[in-house]
Amino acid sequence: MSPTTRTLRAAILGTGAVAHLHAEALRRIHGVTAVASADPSEERVRDFNTRHGIPAGYGSLEELLAAEAVDVVHICTPPAGHAEQTAAAYDAGAHVIAEKPPALSLAEVDQMQEAAHAAGRQLAVVFQQRTGTAATHIRNLLRSGELGRPLTTVCHTLWYRGTEYFEVPWRGTWESEGGGTTLSHGIHQIDLLAYLLGEWSSATGQLFRLDRGVETEDTSCGVVVFESGTVASVLTTVLAPRESSLIRIDTEHATIELEHLYGHNHASWKITPARHISAERAASWALPGDEVPSGHDALLSEVYSALLSGADVPPVAAAPTRAMEIVAALYASAGTGRPVTRAELSGPAIRGSMRAPVVDLRQAR
Ligand SMILES: NC(=O)c1ccc[n+]([C@@H]2O[C@H](COP(=O)([O-])OP(=O)(O)OC[C@H]3O[C@@H](n4cnc5c(N)ncnc54)[C@H](O)[C@@H]3O)[C@@H](O)[C@H]2O)c1
Repeated sequence: MSPTTRTLRAAILGTGAVAHLHAEALRRIHGVTAVASADPSEERVRDFNTRHGIPAGYGSLEELLAAEAVDVVHICTPPAGHAEQTAAAYDAGAHVIAEKPPALSLAEVDQMQEAAHAAGRQLAVVFQQRTGTAATHIRNLLRSGELGRPLTTVCHTLWYRGTEYFEVPWRGTWESEGGGTTLSHGIHQIDLLAYLLGEWSSATGQLFRLDRGVETEDTSCGVVVFESGTVASVLTTVLAPRESSLIRIDTEHATIELEHLYGHNHASWKITPARHISAERAASWALPGDEVPSGHDALLSEVYSALLSGADVPPVAAAPTRAMEIVAALYASAGTGRPVTRAELSGPAIRGSMRAPVVDLRQAR
């Protein structure tokens, strides 16, 4: 069968909140069919399969892989299980598409990448803020040098999660969630920022517990310095009643602003030229006419087109450690009280665990 006419058989592991985005996207992508799902909650699997027209449901990945031949496993479970589940999928000869964060630690992501390499299979991660025509356009403008050197940036994830959100047992602890709001929420914007700006060189961070009864942080504040000499102020919280996701990049020739919540389209971006830029040059920076918004659809359709053609995972789903490394450095810095460089991330302590001290200010008022 030629690679372009083949239909891939996909399985979805974990049928909670995010799995619905995967199932909905799969229905819209040519060349793939969702054939099975698995979740220890029998009721959730049944409802999920009924809603998305998926024929087979199982209580575990092991049962699913024993009964079905699948080409791709979508890992939509809490992060503590991702590394082991990925290994099982590779043993069965499937590719893996894993939800963010790809695992609990950099060491686990290293293992996942090694396992992919050994099995000759692909590992795609879901950091869907990288996707969409606007992000590609802005990245190209920045990388071409047309906007001059990026100098300062603001990267704010101001979200709201009430106390009930943390009642789900796997949330709020280092052991089961791997980190707090920086790893679970801020990582989307941090990932997009690094996708736009390239390699970072150091990070300084502090973690705070301002209100929620979690073991990890509900707020963090940091400074990330990029190799280009760009300085980023990075604030993440789950305590913001008016939720917003913001990125602002001031370059030598322009200000780029993005404001959205959980996904962006062209209207979410604004480019303001510096005073010395001609109107004609500024007009050449306009976003393209055809618009693809960011999201799971955009990411999964690019991943499936690579899998169907036998190509490597595309840039929108590759480099699974880039944003995690920045988060790991912010966390490690919260422990040492000083900037942590990229070179320091090779140490086993930082790669092995994100666990870091959190300043508890809940009683401060
Ligand atoms: N990309 C995004 O925008 C986005 C949004 C939300 C969540 N996520 C990520 O997706 C993952 C899941 O988050 P969620 O909000 O859907 O969680 P959830 O708690 O709503 O759902 C997780 C599901 O996994 C099931 N599960 C647990 N262990 C399992 C196992 N061993 N095998 C099979 N199923 C198992 C649970 O029963 C549950 O149904 C997390 O890594 C999270 O960070 C990503």
